[in-house]
Amino acid sequence: MSLYHIDQGRVAWRSPSNIAIVKYWGKHGRQLPRNASISLTLSAAHTDMYIDYGPRVVGRMVEDFQFAGTAKPAFADKIELFCNRITDRFGWLDKVSLSISSNNSFPHSSGIASSASSMSALALCLVEIDRKINDVPFSLDDLETLCLISDTARLGSGSACRSVYPQLAIWGHHDDLPTSDVHALPLEHVHDVFGTYHDDICIISDREKSVSSTAGHQLMVDNPYAAARYQQAQDRVSALADILRRGDVVAFGELAEAEALSLHGMMMCSAPPYLLIEPGTVEMIRAIHAYRSQSGVPVYFSLDAGPNIHLLYPTEVADVVASWRDEVLRPMCIDGRIIQDQVGSGPQRLA
Ligand code: PMV
Repeated sequence: MSLYHIDQGRVAWRSPSNIAIVKYWGKHGRQLPRNASISLTLSAAHTDMYIDYGPRVVGRMVEDFQFAGTAKPAFADKIELFCNRITDRFGWLDKVSLSISSNNSFPHSSGIASSASSMSALALCLVEIDRKINDVPFSLDDLETLCLISDTARLGSGSACRSVYPQLAIWGHHDDLPTSDVHALPLEHVHDVFGTYHDDICIISDREKSVSSTAGHQLMVDNPYAAARYQQAQDRVSALADILRRGDVVAFGELAEAEALSLHGMMMCSAPPYLLIEPGTVEMIRAIHAYRSQSGVPVYFSLDAGPNIHLLYPTEVADVVASWRDEVLRPMCIDGRIIQDQVGSGPQRLA
């Protein structure tokens, strides 16, 4: 007889993407980070996920996966594989059938990694189903529940573990800060100005990356600069925690740019070396530097593992940045595409 009593039910969550200011790059074991990282939780770039579940009679766990209204058997296979890897924590997964429908707020071919928003949305849904099956109350006000969601999201995609908290999150062991390798935590003692930050994602290329993040993390294993990089990231996490406390937007921007270039520097120093930035990325970086030095406006960039520029600035300069951005940066983007995002308040229940 089954240990679990499984009724039919539905759960649904919206979960945002995030942009790391200190980057996670390099991992070991079961998706554990080599260094700590700190990120801004976004809001406009998000995934909506609906899961209908019920007892399985025959057949597979993920019965159906619809992305933006279209059946995606390859995605269903990926989620089935992931769920089969986490039956040690959710034993009932062997007994359910799941029908999943998912949608991203940003276009599929926008060059924006969707793994942080999609894996955190999936983790939210799975932990809520777990609580329902085990008849345990579920609330995002409970830090223990959030940590379990974050830990589950991490197993799907490391950076996803930071998306479950509002505003800023920290993930990965650090000697001087209360953190964990297995889940992220909300970052505390942050000046209000950082809750107002904008992140305009300027689309330089919407092509699929030539080297995936999974392959990129793997290439850190033999990177001769890896140990120095991990130490640099730990030092920058300490520095950033202090900058965030003080509300120093200039030091914040300088650190964000240095981190973005260190991340891409690691890629250029891998064996084999590779390049994810494009000529348009460099052109836009130069335009940002020129505007900043001539105007004094604290607008800086970050990069994810790709060519697109994340333009970071506090809301108090949003009007002046918007007119320069639309005149100078928008023409450099594919079809003038910019996703105007902002620091957000974390996941939201949809049903
Ligand atoms: O979450 P993953 O395994 O796709 O790794 C992504 C790492 C970066 O996005 C490049 C940096 C970060 O910390 O988010």
